[in-house]
Amino acid sequence: MLAATRGRWAMDGKEAGHVPVLLEEVARALVVDRHGHYVDATFGRGGHARRLLAQLSPHARLLVIDRDADAIASAAGLAGADRRVRVRRGRFGDLKEHLAQSELHAPRGILFDVGVSSAQLDDAERGFSFSADGPLDMRMDRRDGVSAASWLNRAPEREIAAVIERYGEDFHARRLARAIVRARPLYTTLELAGAVARAVPAAHANKHAATRVFQAVRIHVNDELRELERGLKAAFSALAPGGRLATLTFHGLEHRLVRRLFRHWVEGPSLPPRLPVRDLPAPVARRIDVVGKGLRPSASEVGINPRARSALLQAVEKIAEDAPAAATEGSR
Ligand SMILES: C[S@@+](CC[C@H](N)C(=O)[O-])C[C@H]1O[C@@H](n2cnc3c(N)ncnc32)[C@H](O)[C@@H]1O
Repeated sequence: MLAATRGRWAMDGKEAGHVPVLLEEVARALVVDRHGHYVDATFGRGGHARRLLAQLSPHARLLVIDRDADAIASAAGLAGADRRVRVRRGRFGDLKEHLAQSELHAPRGILFDVGVSSAQLDDAERGFSFSADGPLDMRMDRRDGVSAASWLNRAPEREIAAVIERYGEDFHARRLARAIVRARPLYTTLELAGAVARAVPAAHANKHAATRVFQAVRIHVNDELRELERGLKAAFSALAPGGRLATLTFHGLEHRLVRRLFRHWVEGPSLPPRLPVRDLPAPVARRIDVVGKGLRPSASEVGINPRARSALLQAVEKIAEDAPAAATEGSR
């Protein structure tokens, strides 16, 4: 049984995990057919996956995906105990291939609970957090790409500034990038946090800036926004008609990316006013009553699990196939 302890962590007596956000709301939004095929594209420690399995019949299937080795080890344990579960390690952007390899067809529901898990954040060795010292890595999949340290130690100052501005939405981006370049080489999380603190001295301001710099570097190193867009488009195209797509997002960049794509599916492409168009493409999705334009966690959920504070649940139901060219990340 999961219970909230220390805010984000949960213990079931044996394994520390992750307190799933908006658990009942996600299950209510997603499960339309107890016997269908489903996908949890971000297994983490399986909080949502277990909740979905509890509602599904013995004939259902649940494909779980994660790019993190520790998450996959935990998923393999679940698959050993429940024959409905299929496990794939990799990026959810490659969803089509994961579905084909797992012999899952026309899923009725797909969940994306994006970002990092508490297990990743709280393990200093992963380098995601400045609250403890550890190697400056930040990769969700340590087989893949370059670590935060390798990128920060080699990238030109203007590239670092652009990443901090775009993904950290911080207007001190240039000052922060200059301080980071001056402090190179950087190998640990506290060295990066120290460089940020020197650039933005007031205690409150430097905590805020460090949060934004760590978020920006993490998004860049894991290519998170492009992955999210690829994953959502692949998911929408794979869904069965009447199937549902639900997302849990944790900051404005993610919220807006999902909102833009969902609006495109629900309302059709936005066209310049007064453009003489005939045969406007019909909507391919509709909103789900229980979620509307988005659901936030209650105050009592946030009280038990502070990580839920910034969460937003959005969901749509597919009513038709999308035209091949959906909106792209650049078209915000
Ligand atoms: C917030 S956690 C999910 C928590 C999960 N719902 C639970 O209840 O335990 C996000 C997970 O998604 C994984 N992830 C993030 N981006 C991914 C991607 N592009 N492909 C596959 N997994 C990804 C992370 O490794 C992490 O384990």
